Amino acid sequence: MSLSAQAVGHARLHQLAQTHQLKALMTIIRDQNTPRGDFVFYSDRVIRLLVEEGLNYLPVVNKEVITPMGVPFQGVAFEGRICGVSIMRAGESMEQGLRDVCTSVRTGKVLIQRDERTAQPKLYYSKLPKDIANRWVLLLDPMLATGGSAIKCIEVLLEAGVKEERILFINLICSPEGALAMLEQFPKLQIITAEIDEGMDQQKFILPGLGDFGDRYFGTE
Ligand code: URA
Repeated sequence: MSLSAQAVGHARLHQLAQTHQLKALMTIIRDQNTPRGDFVFYSDRVIRLLVEEGLNYLPVVNKEVITPMGVPFQGVAFEGRICGVSIMRAGESMEQGLRDVCTSVRTGKVLIQRDERTAQPKLYYSKLPKDIANRWVLLLDPMLATGGSAIKCIEVLLEAGVKEERILFINLICSPEGALAMLEQFPKLQIITAEIDEGMDQQKFILPGLGDFGDRYFGTE
């Protein structure tokens, strides 16, 4: 079975519903001719969909309320608290989308870069909510290529006491290789993504991809 087919069929890799709307949004942000303002606007729309989908994986408890009609309604309420952690720099683009849905959500940051000497991902900076060990974590990074940085970041979260099954990796586009590497290394991790692409080029850019997300979003091309 091809890597793409394995990724698409993986039980813990959740793709957004492949609706016409999502396809149209992704077509705009993948287009090399899309101006930066539109890239940011339409990326933000997809990020919003991703965060909303991620919240579907949080546990709930039964809750009864009384409607204005004086009638009881058997509903649910979220159980447990969440926080966001963005992988700098591109992941920071997803923080506002998280705040739009979860007001005043706590948000940590992690900076991981390739160590030129060892060629391994190296942690340069992390600032996490103090009580992160008691929270569900929405880990934010728009592009999952090899998975090196994201894997390192999850190791940082686990060292901080976060339970693996409480980590939801929220991502716009993933390569099958990167997604499968993460899911294999962390058997309780869940990934929520908009689209699973075909692979990577020699420089580890995702194909067909959308180029450098951070550069296009922050205007540093
Ligand atoms: N990061 C990006 O911004 N784009 C890719 O294709 C891969 C990693």
